[in-house]
Amino acid sequence: MAYNLLKGKKGIIFGALDEKSIAWKTALRCHEEGAQLVLTNAPVALRMGEINKLAEAVNAPVIGADVTNMDDLKKLFEETQKHFGGKIDFILHSIGMSLNVRKNKHYTEIDYGFNQKTLDISAMSLHRVLRTAWEQDALNEWASVVALTYIAAQRVFPDYNEMADAKALLEGVARNFGYHYGIKKKVRVNTVSQSPTRTTAGSGVKGFDGFISYAEKMSPLGNATADQCADYCVTLFSDLTRMVTMQNLFHDGGFSFTGVSHAVIEQMEK
Ligand code: NAI
Repeated sequence: MAYNLLKGKKGIIFGALDEKSIAWKTALRCHEEGAQLVLTNAPVALRMGEINKLAEAVNAPVIGADVTNMDDLKKLFEETQKHFGGKIDFILHSIGMSLNVRKNKHYTEIDYGFNQKTLDISAMSLHRVLRTAWEQDALNEWASVVALTYIAAQRVFPDYNEMADAKALLEGVARNFGYHYGIKKKVRVNTVSQSPTRTTAGSGVKGFDGFISYAEKMSPLGNATADQCADYCVTLFSDLTRMVTMQNLFHDGGFSFTGVSHAVIEQMEK
């Protein structure tokens, strides 16, 4: 059901790779709610061509940008403002990549060169995006920026590897830049900490099947889906959540505050 929550708003969606992507679902929901969009992803992801289907469905241009490249980001924000004929109201940062996970490096043996790239792509990219917007004064007052994160930033999930550190850094950037942008222009910056979700990035985590069913059993409401995450992002982009900023918001069916569930105790007693 649509409520016109984003009528007249304009946003950039980073990270729609394929139909499973959280960013893909969020773009569809934002469109349903009346927003105008620009889609962006890394040039290598654009070459897959999938994003063109989404672009057609939400009537949005696709502008390539590697989030670790400041020139790409400058061009993205300039072209986006030209396309909209004005400033931007919301941004979804839905980006994650671990080189050490890809290369099967154990956490205790990570390659530091790969690690720097992981932190740059998955965490400092939020700083780069916000800084580019800041320097071009590209955001409207009360604009809303959301980045997706995972609870491994606070608690140990051993196979999440270096991404746990990347998410902790990402949440730190959201808090710190959120402070400065709040004062400068009432811009809100938050992270949404999502349940494990079957996507390309999610399934890259070792032991993902066990991981996702454990989370399902540990969450009173069950795991939150990508579609439900898209709904939540819409509320954060809307004017109904104007005073929420610098927060890490758990969207996980109650997982984060559950010590143990009856379902898990029963499993242990078997
Ligand atoms: P996905 O694989 O569909 O999305 C990741 C995106 O990052 C892809 O579109 C990819 O092209 C983009 N990306 C990678 N390197 C880039 C670069 N250099 N420049 C620009 N874009 C780049 O997977 P998913 O799950 O939708 O991931 C979205 C976000 O949600 C990520 O931050 C992820 O860590 C987070 N998240 C995912 C969970 C899951 O279980 N799937 C759980 C909690 C958070």
